[in-house]
Amino acid sequence: MSKVDSKLRLAVLVSGGGTNLQALIDRTRAGRTAAEIVVAAADRPGIQGLARAEAAGIPAHVVDYGAFLKQDWEVLRRDLPVDVEEIDRAQNILHQPEREERLKRLVRLMSAEAAIIATIEPYRPDYVCLAGFMRLVTPFFLNHFNREGRLRVINIHPALLPAFPGQHGYEDTFSYGCKWGGITIHFVDEGEDSGPIIAQAVYPVLPGDDVEKARQRGLQLEYEMYAQVIDWLAAGQVEVVAAAGHRTRTLIRDPEYPRVMESWMRKAFSC
Ligand code: GRF
Repeated sequence: MSKVDSKLRLAVLVSGGGTNLQALIDRTRAGRTAAEIVVAAADRPGIQGLARAEAAGIPAHVVDYGAFLKQDWEVLRRDLPVDVEEIDRAQNILHQPEREERLKRLVRLMSAEAAIIATIEPYRPDYVCLAGFMRLVTPFFLNHFNREGRLRVINIHPALLPAFPGQHGYEDTFSYGCKWGGITIHFVDEGEDSGPIIAQAVYPVLPGDDVEKARQRGLQLEYEMYAQVIDWLAAGQVEVVAAAGHRTRTLIRDPEYPRVMESWMRKAFSC
């Protein structure tokens, strides 16, 4: 059976409330996306996202990053199956000028990632979907999943990238006084929120809105967009265009693409 006929297997990583995870659970359960969530994992215990997965009968695991970030980095480094210096050269997320400080942080992050890989790999995910996963991802993690020349790690970011990368997309958009906010779904690369863009949509920021109102509008778009992107991936409609010396881009090969854009626009004004 080809991947178009079968369902994509998703691993979803969360750090908080997990409303995107919930939207994916609802849509996959209703048979509205060509995917199933085979595992969920969180970077900390006790979050609502985990409870949502458990309630849906999805295997839910915790890899406690907080604990890893406190451990002896030299002990952790010995257990890592990779050349830390090489990963440091490839990464563009940690910018501490002091080499040892940078390596310490990298080793701790990679050790937590090794634990995530060991946790989710047995479920054989086709894609790893970051859905409010508030951790930097290193090239060690990406190299593991981006096999056979395919990009397999996706993130949703609540701003119109490349504007406002980082953890506060809604707040940054609002406090800058933007008249349009945006949502971006992208493949993850070695930088922070800098990977090839798969989908974007915008919502209006109207006079009288506060940041919570903007977030409400944006989140409604997020839920629609994540499911749509997964359907495009399942249908093989996300073409990755890579050329030496140029940024990697994607093209969506869906004849319905303009209508999808239009429906997102309508959604943005409907709440
Ligand atoms: C979303 O706004 C997502 O774009 C961002 O983190 C938030 C997660 O929300 N990366 P939730 O946990 O899915 O409710």
